[in-house]
Amino acid sequence: MSGFELDTTSYTLLTSILTAAALLSIHNTKGPDIHPLLLNTQSDVSRLRHPGESAIYRSRMYPNGSPLLSTFDRSMRTLCDLYEAGGLSKQRTSPFVGKYTDSGAWEWTTYEVISNKSKHVQAGLRTWAGLVPVSGNESSFVGIYASNSPETVAIGLACHCNGLVTVPISAQATSSHVSHVIKDTLLKVLAVDPVNLERALSLVPGTNVKYIVVLGSIDAANKDAAKKAGIELLTFKELEVLGQSSTVEAVRPGPNDVASIMFDSTSNQLSKSGAVLTQKNLLANVASYLMVLPPQQKITSNDRLLHNLPIDNVLGHTISSVFYYVGGSIAFEADEPKKDVKATLSKISEAKPTILVSGPHFLHQVKEVIESNYGNSFLFRRGFNKKLECFKEGRLVNDSKYDMLVFRDIRQTLFGGNLRVVFIDNDDNTEPIAPFLRAVLGVQVLKTFNRAETGGTMTASMFYDYNADTAACGAPLPCNELKLTDLTENGYTAEDKPNPRGEIWVRGNNVFSGYWNDPTSTSDVMDADGWFMTGMIGEVFPNGTVKLLGRK
Ligand SMILES: *[C@@H]1O[C@H](CO)[C@@H](O)[C@H](O)[C@H]1NC(C)=O
Ligand SMILES: *[C@@H]1O[C@H](CO)[C@@H](O)[C@H](O)[C@H]1NC(C)=O
Ligand SMILES: *[C@@H]1O[C@H](CO)[C@@H](O)[C@H](O)[C@H]1NC(C)=O
Repeated sequence: MSGFELDTTSYTLLTSILTAAALLSIHNTKGPDIHPLLLNTQSDVSRLRHPGESAIYRSRMYPNGSPLLSTFDRSMRTLCDLYEAGGLSKQRTSPFVGKYTDSGAWEWTTYEVISNKSKHVQAGLRTWAGLVPVSGNESSFVGIYASNSPETVAIGLACHCNGLVTVPISAQATSSHVSHVIKDTLLKVLAVDPVNLERALSLVPGTNVKYIVVLGSIDAANKDAAKKAGIELLTFKELEVLGQSSTVEAVRPGPNDVASIMFDSTSNQLSKSGAVLTQKNLLANVASYLMVLPPQQKITSNDRLLHNLPIDNVLGHTISSVFYYVGGSIAFEADEPKKDVKATLSKISEAKPTILVSGPHFLHQVKEVIESNYGNSFLFRRGFNKKLECFKEGRLVNDSKYDMLVFRDIRQTLFGGNLRVVFIDNDDNTEPIAPFLRAVLGVQVLKTFNRAETGGTMTASMFYDYNADTAACGAPLPCNELKLTDLTENGYTAEDKPNPRGEIWVRGNNVFSGYWNDPTSTSDVMDADGWFMTGMIGEVFPNGTVKLLGRK
């Protein structure tokens, strides 16, 4: 992977072709939003094929024969390089992370404040808990069992820019999952939300956890419980103060240093081992998103992300990192199972996001809200059908008379009126959500296929592709390539007609190096050539998009 010049050249060439084509069509109001040719060939297909396998599919920007994307600028080789070159240096006084406070309003913390906090936190963690920034060693691990917040962002930056490793655990994870992660990675330090402190304290006896940072205040009962269990507690603020007076030097990580260990808390199967992801793995996925955004859809410092995925969600991590880089702002709003969706939406509309990253659970709830409030209106149904007709012509319309009469009100009430893009995390619901959201909200809706083992997204649907099969998830991102291998026992082969089918395997710069401390599980899903077997069955359409057919 040394041919960086080739990377840049092929990218420049291809984007200029894509840009020209996109610009030619975008200004013609009656024509489709993008030239149909671009939607008909979404992947580059290898000429060579091995027996029992499909061809290899790649992003059109990084075709077969060129190196896969690892970064977009040779001075950026780690996530930390990307963060430091981004908002942390360019948007210091701009809002970075927002949290809805008990006083009923969004409170924003700037890049500068988070940056200062992260410096103190890294020094504090190393001084207090004796963490050592040695790649691939448990003494560098920091468990974060919490919802996303300004504090977790500061801890993430502290780790990723100093050779410490984050081990995120969803605040909604089951107790057995939390225990599994703590034991599997021999965690010594855990950062915990106040609401989860009691549970955390009940789970740590008999484990290696000795230090707990509480991201808020600590009540007397928990103080006692910790004392009895021999656990040292500090609040986040106390940790910052400790770090301020510490003299430990920052340690810059390299591209191959471990950055995170990601566990899948959502799979219904027994908890698996943690996927070991390096700085390079995570950077490659972030860089891919920055590369595939069409010029008219670039994410900038004016954008605001609404992020309601759990902290261990890799898509959430990747899209947030894009924002760290461009210097945009991020509003966190946890999607908890029992939360009232209308109350959540009223907070979201106050944040006025331009981009939303969310999962199918929340989005289906939003659909129910819209249908129960507007679904019976004649104008809604008529306008909805008109929108679907425009999609067939390749056009997304947001300024028709129906927009003035109904849809604008929905957009305003639910999302504050500025939304323009929705990224959907893995969606295996049989009932499709993307066309509904596209029609009603008048925004771009992209489906993505993600796994912890691939540091984020493998395939994502293309902007302006309104007629995709509803189970399709777009084409490979430029950091990885994809093929299908025969699953003869299930009746799927590369020779199937009309399209090849089989298990989806991916390989690339984002793909993990193995499970933590579990070579057996690693060799079960990874072949000698570095292909990761996703366990998902897929079909590739002639237009180069991948349809997911279910689990193996
Ligand atoms: C951040 O730290 C720098 C350097 O120590 C300091 O000059 C600056 O005032 C701090 N900013 C804030 C907002 O605390
Ligand atoms: C419609 O979409 C375009 C392109 O995303 C955007 O510039 C414009 O502001 C939108 N109009 C409304 C009324 O939302
Ligand atoms: C891609 O192929 C699928 C399956 O044939 C089809 O449903 C979809 O409409 C195609 N997309 C485009 C943009 O042609």
